[in-house]
Amino acid sequence: MTTVASAQTDIPATAWHHRHLIDLDVVSWPEIDLIMRTTDEMKGILARPIRKVPALNGRRVTTLFYEASTRTRVSFETAARNLSADVVSVAPATSSVTKGESLVDTVRTLEALGAEILVMRHSVSGAPYLAAEVFGGHVLNGGDGWHAHPTQALLDLYTMRENLPGGDLRGRKVAIVGDILHSRVARSNIWSLTAAGADLWLCGPATLLRGMDRWATAWSGGAIPGHGRFNVTSDIEAALHDADVVMGLRIQRERMQGGLLPSLREYAARFQLNAERVSLAKPGAIVMHPGPMNEGVEIAPDVAISGRSVITDQVANGVAVRMALLYLLAGAHEAAHGETPL
Ligand code: NCD
Repeated sequence: MTTVASAQTDIPATAWHHRHLIDLDVVSWPEIDLIMRTTDEMKGILARPIRKVPALNGRRVTTLFYEASTRTRVSFETAARNLSADVVSVAPATSSVTKGESLVDTVRTLEALGAEILVMRHSVSGAPYLAAEVFGGHVLNGGDGWHAHPTQALLDLYTMRENLPGGDLRGRKVAIVGDILHSRVARSNIWSLTAAGADLWLCGPATLLRGMDRWATAWSGGAIPGHGRFNVTSDIEAALHDADVVMGLRIQRERMQGGLLPSLREYAARFQLNAERVSLAKPGAIVMHPGPMNEGVEIAPDVAISGRSVITDQVANGVAVRMALLYLLAGAHEAAHGETPL
């Protein structure tokens, strides 16, 4: 058995079998647990005076983001550099995409230019699957349409485990409030949090929960082996009551066709995570948000910076989680053979 880091650790890294990470629906709980433990190792590296290790020395990580991003792209690139990978960042707005080049041609071109790990974000759900069909390396999904954002869900899970006593989510109430309909973050969190055994509540206006009740019913009917059920409600008091974790989601106006919300003011009046509402949660509850935040809409500014907020921890943990994923995907654990590349 090879181990991830050194003689001091005992992580069965050989348990990682995936070539790509596009969605969490194919990732088992033991594999999620492996990612969490590998992230612990990466956090150890980030606490060192020199945060760089040679694990991916000479490997090429290429980021291709067709949609705006600050934290996801920068944290992937920081993670890759921390592992000594070469990083190439492609901005479609200034690339041949503007001349009509297709996703498939762009991916083939990047591979010919040496890309080995492709981190991509796209506005079309499923685009990373198309890329994976033509790409000879590894595809990591940095968010596709409304579909999935697996690394965000993993950093959310890591942050919850870090902040909850005992690090165990079983039976813990997690309320996710906001624009569930358009949220790839919520969809990925449903997989990881139900696998973790959390008591998951999705909350928002009925128009922004469309389709979720059917999904919740399928889940509670045991459609997904090993996954717990989740609740869907527009009753924010019920969702927040006694919650251990409260997560706000951005109202994604760019994905919204008219008529889903009367106005942002009305949304804020009924669903904003403000101090009064958040006080319904457990005394030690944490407040999360994947960012970018629209303060004053889905979350009140004082809540976002309150002592309960772990929003900056989420961002910081994002680097460690992405280091772990790049490391596992690149098969660096296999190359290590006890040689301790970290
Ligand atoms: C989210 C995204 O892009 O899906 N942000 C993120 O990656 N941290 C959420 C959003 O855009 O609201």
